[in-house]
Amino acid sequence: KLAGLRICCIGAGYVGGPTMAMMALKCPEVVITIVDISVSRIAAWNSDVLPIYEPGLDKVVKACRGKNLFFSTEVDQGIRDADIIFVAVNTPTKKVGMGAGRAADLTYWELAARRIASVAETPKVVVEKSTVPINTAEAISAVLHGAGKTRFDVLSNPEFLAEGTAMTDLDNPDRVLIGGNMNESGKAAVAKLADVYAHWVPRERILTTNVWSSELSKLVANSFLAQRVSSINAVSAICEASGADVDEVARAVGMDSRIGSKFLKASVGFGGSCFQKDILNLVYLCQSMGLADVAEYFHSVVMMNDRQKERFVSRMIHGLFNTVTGKRIALLGFAFKKDTGDTRESASIEICRRLIEERASVCIYDPKVEADQIWMDLTAATKLDKTEVQKYVTLCDSAYEAASGAHALAIATEWDEFKTLDYGKIQEDMVKPSFVFDGRNVLDHDALRELGYIVYAIGKPLDPKLNTSINC
Ligand code: NAI
Repeated sequence: KLAGLRICCIGAGYVGGPTMAMMALKCPEVVITIVDISVSRIAAWNSDVLPIYEPGLDKVVKACRGKNLFFSTEVDQGIRDADIIFVAVNTPTKKVGMGAGRAADLTYWELAARRIASVAETPKVVVEKSTVPINTAEAISAVLHGAGKTRFDVLSNPEFLAEGTAMTDLDNPDRVLIGGNMNESGKAAVAKLADVYAHWVPRERILTTNVWSSELSKLVANSFLAQRVSSINAVSAICEASGADVDEVARAVGMDSRIGSKFLKASVGFGGSCFQKDILNLVYLCQSMGLADVAEYFHSVVMMNDRQKERFVSRMIHGLFNTVTGKRIALLGFAFKKDTGDTRESASIEICRRLIEERASVCIYDPKVEADQIWMDLTAATKLDKTEVQKYVTLCDSAYEAASGAHALAIATEWDEFKTLDYGKIQEDMVKPSFVFDGRNVLDHDALRELGYIVYAIGKPLDPKLNTSINC
């Protein structure tokens, strides 16, 4: 049924790359071209070292590349040849102008849409894969029909994959959501896209709806997920003040089938390119609709997340006898979560920025994040130049190197390898008393205490040896 179908995806990033690779694997009769304006990103997709790390991605790309999956910088050609065009460009939070700090910046989207309008010669189905504010499909449709010379059907098809598990999420999604117009050509476009997914996703998991519901669902899904993290993190502060254990509370609460056990892990705070941006986008939407109280309700999720990162740094400072100035701190993990090299909005960035502000000496180790990325993130966050940042920050090739001579270890990302380090050996090279601040609750705290460490873990009964005179 799909033979001869040609798909183009504009944007070869964390979403465009994995989603199209999975589609190519599952639909061998469809030819898929992913295009991007970034020459270096496309070159990397065509090389042995892909531009993003995602478990299982390498294998799928290598199986399909050059057969029915192509990576190219020829954006116009990709558009011209395609029947269906996915747009998976970035939609960051606006930095300047109206809605700065909250609204989505749709510049990249509009540029892509204008490109489609100017080169498309035959009817196209244009699919919003990026996360966008509600009403974007309508605005994009206006751009396409105003500037284009053919018919366009705009669909909303938000992506629900999570980085780190993208390939399994794409292989076996909880649901695929497709929003379209209710007219005849809109319905036909929805059916065409649904047929592609039906190649591997059971029909009952392919939901079709109107575009506004589809666009709003993505923002709401991310806001709810983030809200759970902020809720359990708020509880972690109560636990520390009361002597309760956040994991025990989460277990008891999560076994209620109405609540469920997922996303109840207390931590140093959520990161990633999406949660904060999408909540702020929802907040902006509420504000522009005059729903100030609803906006405030969702905004508190982001505020709680910021507070959680600050709470963690405060625990470190108070724990280390009220100052970290000149003290070496080993920061383990820089990615926003395990199994990805992505650092966007990572809690590590803010922790590091605060430690630099306190004039600590920070030694960072992450198994996947590139050095250049860390320097870029830290110069942007601190507004210092690289040489200035390097006065306070050193990058290390292993956790052991980072910990050597350190007063404290801080776990900022839950990488599996941090669970199996030889903490006895590590302690031999650390300043005494040696501290561990476990921002992900992944270590065996009792075993560490037996080794002589003073341990702080999020939402756990406080170590009597830790300075806890101030409630954080
Ligand atoms: P990304 O920044 O990794 O990739 C976007 C790509 O689009 C970049 O390579 C950029 O060069 C390219 N691009 C921008 N403008 C272009 C244009 N006019 N023509 C051609 N290429 C262009 O972004 P990512 O993470 O893939 O996110 C894309 C969208 O998907 C965002 O809206 C995001 O909110 C959404 N999303 C992201 C998820 C994630 O886990 N990263 C999950 C679900 C949705």
